[in-house]
Amino acid sequence: MSEGSTSKDVLSRGPLARDQAFSISVAPMMDWTDRHCRYFHRLLHPMAVLYTEMIHANAVVKGDREYLLGFDASEHPVAVQLGGNDPQLLAEAARICEDFGYDEINLNIGCPSERVQTGAFGACLMSEPERVARGVEAMKKAVSIPVTVKTRIGIDDKDSDEFLLSFISAMEGAGVDKLIVHARIAILAGLSPKQNREVPPLNYARVERMRALFPKVPMVLNGGVTAIEHIAHWSEQFDGVMIGRAAYQNPWLLAEARAWQEGQPLVERSSVINQFSSYVHKQLERGVRLQSMTRHIQGLYLGQPGARAWRRYLSEHSHLEGADADVLEQALAKVDRF
Ligand SMILES: Cc1cc2nc3c(=O)[nH]c(=O)nc-3n(C[C@H](O)[C@H](O)[C@H](O)COP(=O)(O)O)c2cc1C
Repeated sequence: MSEGSTSKDVLSRGPLARDQAFSISVAPMMDWTDRHCRYFHRLLHPMAVLYTEMIHANAVVKGDREYLLGFDASEHPVAVQLGGNDPQLLAEAARICEDFGYDEINLNIGCPSERVQTGAFGACLMSEPERVARGVEAMKKAVSIPVTVKTRIGIDDKDSDEFLLSFISAMEGAGVDKLIVHARIAILAGLSPKQNREVPPLNYARVERMRALFPKVPMVLNGGVTAIEHIAHWSEQFDGVMIGRAAYQNPWLLAEARAWQEGQPLVERSSVINQFSSYVHKQLERGVRLQSMTRHIQGLYLGQPGARAWRRYLSEHSHLEGADADVLEQALAKVDRF
């Protein structure tokens, strides 16, 4: 990205000149990227890879599969993120997810929560690369779809290129199909998961060095990608970017990314909402609560005139007795006044 370029400049440059395989993905986010959220994101970007919230392999094997794994056909390409550390259990869960129709199995090696540490999975597994490699190998044997790993760049005092290098070597040896690297370490003691996304500084330089050292491992950069300029910048080096909080809080970024990738004009926010409204209508008939769908669209007008009125109308009306998909149309009418 040249200094001083704006999102308008970048958008006006048109479609990606290089490798069209560059992917945009929306990060797995617990409590956020449920199936309703993913449906909404799909309307904004037709090719972005959408990730589920993390699901423990044990839950996949023993739990209510339709509830945990069900998704709408329009969500493809959709990846399921698994948590766990037992290769056989992971392989069994991966097989079930493949049968369910998922396009990718992703293993979580980045979550620092205490609950996850007690279960000895997530970020703490970075210090057991051989175990993770066995998990990846077992899953790869069990399924024919890609098996990928989402990792941090280190944990606690294991904050060096050497540590990450040996982890990635083990993943490469296990045949990982793609590595998603969240460009900050995880601090396992004393920080909450939220602080672990803010306090350890982003260290892009380390990920760039890994990119150069492992040219054959498809690598996706994650962490702090919040603008179209960032996406354009990282597309020069990486096979993709994964967007987390910005995609949720400012979902319009996905529409901008699509316009940039395809060289197409931006769609209208209202037409996205009209499409989402048909979905909401069908889901309400199945007993889904309106609020559990409208909560994901609150950020659609971020930074636009009427953004406050939009958010306010949705939050004040979605939970009311008898509220239905008309709430979306009424909220749009509020924005139209600005
Ligand atoms: C609410 C929330 C929940 C998250 N849950 C998960 C998760 O289940 N699995 C995971 O690998 N990362 C999880 N993350 C981390 C994101 O996937 C991502 O790595 C992180 O937010 C950094 O990317 P960003 O700067 O684009 O937000 C979560 C992040 C947030 C904000």
